[in-house]
Amino acid sequence: MVNKFIGRTISQEYGEPAWQQICQQAGYPDLPIDAVTNYPDAITFDLVAAACCVLQAPQNELLQLLGQRWVSFTAQEDYTELFAVTGSDFYSFMCQLNKMHASLQLQMPGLKPPFFHVEKLTEQCILIEYYSERHGLAAFTQGLLQGLCEYFSYPAQVRLLESGENSDYEAAFMVEELA
Ligand code: HEM
Repeated sequence: MVNKFIGRTISQEYGEPAWQQICQQAGYPDLPIDAVTNYPDAITFDLVAAACCVLQAPQNELLQLLGQRWVSFTAQEDYTELFAVTGSDFYSFMCQLNKMHASLQLQMPGLKPPFFHVEKLTEQCILIEYYSERHGLAAFTQGLLQGLCEYFSYPAQVRLLESGENSDYEAAFMVEELA
């Protein structure tokens, strides 16, 4: 599902030939991409690395763009209903996201979903801690959170916080409502 999405997004944004070139460069010229097969993470990371190279784009920027687009992709595609039942505003959606990813594990065994700790500090400030078995996806997650704010027309900025030395999360974000 993730690789299918990357292919779709890059083809839309940069054209189908660019995507073909990226698959070629990553060493997967004939990757049969569908929504349910679980591919090793290495393939996804190879595709992202090749995309940065072919498109001459910094990895953080590309990951952020992909995160943002993931929201509209899942909200419009086969996951419309799941998206709708998860929440009707940014905060309630984030509070239900762990449950939603867990429910997906039933359909997609082998999934290693992330975990989010969500805390409303004030009416305008939400602290989000992101835990994961994967590394290097903080920019992707920041893009996701921005995409989710846009989706719910929630005027907010998403700030990546400095990680503390002993923090066991991958990244922490402050989502601050804009006045
Ligand atoms: C209906 C909407 C969504 C669906 C169907 C969905 C599904 C998935 C799937 C299939 C994966 C791959 C997991 C794996 O391969 O192990 C994933 C990963 C992830 N999802 Fe979601 N997701 C949705 C919305 C969101 C939203 C709105 C966020 C916002 C923060 C989010 C955060 C993440 C993150 C950060 C990962 C990266 C995985 C990691 O750190 O290991 N997802 N999601």
